[in-house]
Amino acid sequence: MKNVTGARCTLCGKNFPAEPETTVCPECGGILDIEYDYDYIKKQLAEKPLASREERTMWRYMEFLPVIGIGKRPRLRVGCSPLYKAEALGKILGIRDLWIKDDGQNPTASLKDRASAMAVVKAEEAGKDTIACSSTGNAASSLAGNAAAAGLHACIFVPARAPKGKVAQLMMFGAKVFLVDGSYEDTFRISAEAIDRWGWYNRNAAINPYLMEGKKTVSLEIAEQLGFQMPDYVAVSVGDGCTIGGVYKGFKDLFCAGLIPKIPRIISVQASGCCPINTAAAAGTMDWVPQEENTLADSIAVGVPRNPVKALRAIHDSHGITVNVSDDEILAAMRLLGASSGVFAEPAGAAATAGVKKAVETGLIEKNSSVVTIVTGNGLKDTANAIRSAGEPVHIRPEMDDLEKYL
Ligand SMILES: Cc1ncc(COP(=O)(O)O)c(C=O)c1O
Ligand SMILES: [Zn+2]
Repeated sequence: MKNVTGARCTLCGKNFPAEPETTVCPECGGILDIEYDYDYIKKQLAEKPLASREERTMWRYMEFLPVIGIGKRPRLRVGCSPLYKAEALGKILGIRDLWIKDDGQNPTASLKDRASAMAVVKAEEAGKDTIACSSTGNAASSLAGNAAAAGLHACIFVPARAPKGKVAQLMMFGAKVFLVDGSYEDTFRISAEAIDRWGWYNRNAAINPYLMEGKKTVSLEIAEQLGFQMPDYVAVSVGDGCTIGGVYKGFKDLFCAGLIPKIPRIISVQASGCCPINTAAAAGTMDWVPQEENTLADSIAVGVPRNPVKALRAIHDSHGITVNVSDDEILAAMRLLGASSGVFAEPAGAAATAGVKKAVETGLIEKNSSVVTIVTGNGLKDTANAIRSAGEPVHIRPEMDDLEKYL
């Protein structure tokens, strides 16, 4: 890979070769960060400008990605999700310019497809035919779908509380699925032991540094869709912290390659009932403390985050802000996104927008700001909470008299 200069430890700072199976720092166990040769990237972009490219997937940005190629196996179409100018919602929230990046429109309906597509390519590079992960649900269903398309096996560990929609996806994609009676922390631990024992390719996001490189393509797209004019803020919901790390990394890479004039400030949104990263960020410390997982937003119910270092750095280095939202605020944001914009978000997918609303109301961000809110997962994955948010429809007999009562 001519564009990659290595994998640097986020704790001890040592640089290591970026091999397909590179995971954490062999010396101190720290999480690794893939580094690039930005002069090389600039040359590639000068030879083949982005605007001239026909590829309409996340692989459009090859020189920013740690792969040689994407192989010959069939792939799902991941990335290039829409960025909507949300005029009506912007008015409701009182923000001058608001955009919604609807990543629920990825093939398995979440942003995690970006990471899983990357995992499948790296597993092939490593010569593995089985990939495994633990997940609150979406990383798992995206891995199962992307692996199925490429003809690889997926072995999945999810907490038993995972919503039915996500579990249905796993079964439909033919994965070997283990519902773990325990917390996400328990699920992660048993998956790590099993991966060690059976030698599968490890798609656990914090452990595998390549996955964040897939996730960062969401930022590359936002930038290109906005003509490289950066918004003031980008809002994202946070669980393990890999997604926010990826969002920041994408903007940082673009900035270092000279494509954007500034890095947007990142709004880190967590649920009030489970916010270890925001609590640490607000206190100005890297020493986060585990919390209970008390939120209906299952994807971000992560009491022991796996990637706090990259998440906290993303908030700090982007001069970001933190907002915690209650379950009621999340349910209200789901209704707002749906009714004002036709975007259907699962609770964790709507949390970022709940955070934007709250940030405006509490004066954390100015009303004349420009903001991109990322919807990270589709509402069809969790219809129970969707109904809880939007309510039940009216029941009628098939008689006009009955209908008249309501219209
Ligand atoms: C829909 C959705 N939003 C947000 C997140 C948070 O991502 P991370 O755990 O990388 O912080 C997840 C993770 O599962 C998710 O599925
Ligand atoms: Zn190290």
